[in-house]
Amino acid sequence: MLSHEQNESLVRVGPGTSMGDLFRLYWIPFYPGSALTPDGQPKRVKLLGEDLVAFRDSEGRPGLIANACPHRGAPLMFGRNEECGLRCVYHGWKFGVDGKVTDMPAEPAESGLKETVRAKTYSCRERNGVLWTYMGPDQDNPPPLPQIEWNLVPDENVFVSFRVQECNWLQALEGEIDSAHAPILHGRIDNKGAISDWVASKDLSPRFECKEQPFGMSIASRRSIGDDTSYWRVNQFLLPFWTLVPPQSKFPELSGHAWVPMDDETTLCLMFSYTPAGPLYPRMRELLAEGHKGRETGHASQNCYAPKPSTTPYADFWTRFSPDTGYGFDYNSQRDTWFSGMPGLWVQDAACQTGVVPIVDRTQEYLSASDMGIVRTRRLLLKSLAAYHDRGETPASVQDPETFMVRSISLHLPSQASWTEDGAAFMRAELGSDFGYAP
Ligand code: FES
Ligand SMILES: [Fe+2]
Repeated sequence: MLSHEQNESLVRVGPGTSMGDLFRLYWIPFYPGSALTPDGQPKRVKLLGEDLVAFRDSEGRPGLIANACPHRGAPLMFGRNEECGLRCVYHGWKFGVDGKVTDMPAEPAESGLKETVRAKTYSCRERNGVLWTYMGPDQDNPPPLPQIEWNLVPDENVFVSFRVQECNWLQALEGEIDSAHAPILHGRIDNKGAISDWVASKDLSPRFECKEQPFGMSIASRRSIGDDTSYWRVNQFLLPFWTLVPPQSKFPELSGHAWVPMDDETTLCLMFSYTPAGPLYPRMRELLAEGHKGRETGHASQNCYAPKPSTTPYADFWTRFSPDTGYGFDYNSQRDTWFSGMPGLWVQDAACQTGVVPIVDRTQEYLSASDMGIVRTRRLLLKSLAAYHDRGETPASVQDPETFMVRSISLHLPSQASWTEDGAAFMRAELGSDFGYAP
């Protein structure tokens, strides 16, 4: 449970807010590079409560510019993207990716106004097919891009998807560091007889341990397998909005999310899945892209998108699974197929994370033993806010991109072993190296 003030300080993301300022210290992945073509249609973007437009100029340079034209506020998303700049359709002012004005056709040539106006823009970088932006105060001296493994491995090793979720970033993130929900929410009950048998067949109450790390927080859950073995799954939280999920399944891959706040009530969910030392199994890539027998996996499938008009932020990344459509909930399937009655992994997560209001009132919770990771992560966030705002201290990961070279793990260990010691080597990401154990 948090106080109202604590909750507010974590959920508000706009300019000048406590958490908004912390987010603005970091590079933010914000768009698939392939969705922007040179001189192609500009795309409406919303990040940290700011209305923006993404475009790629004639020379292929990505730009992120305030949607409101600095002249008299016409939307630059209607702009003509041509000859190395975005031209406002109202009076024709034209801007480069750096925000400088290159033309003012309705202005007398001698006015000199062109030199004094600058549109608001943010630095952009592109790496391995993903566009990143830095929205911090010092646009001329951004920190290094984070060395985060999914964005450094070869193309054939990774699958990335984007989708919009209609809730605050923190409740989305909290869903992915909470591994107690996984066997319950994502359970299948077909052919399992009575529901009580199904529940009894699983260890549904893992024990949690957490460890603060230079990158954020490790959240470990332990399930006993017989008397002498423990199964540890360690999720990672990386400041400011990253989660990493441990591998499992026959063809194990690492995965995780950036939970990027569009505004206080909407989140851009960037999901990545990758194999560290070789190409993703073709079947796995196909499943992630297409779903499985009409159901969603952890990724938004290419069939699930329900695009909005291009004036809506991230218009192409809204899906047909939303509060408005009831997430495809089907009571009959809850009786005989899915524990939740909802079709597929991310849909189940999104329905529960989104909850009944876009910003959860954390003064009204009953936190339980399985919420330890959430409690510790909130505490870490509040501590980081205080350190930054009271003492001007930025988290280590802002300036040290290596801090992000970390993996989540799933390990079988002897009961007496320590996951922090025996798991430490496997939690370090080394480019090109395999898991180092059999997940
Ligand atoms: S409002 Fe954009 S040029 Fe006038
Ligand atoms: Fe989940």
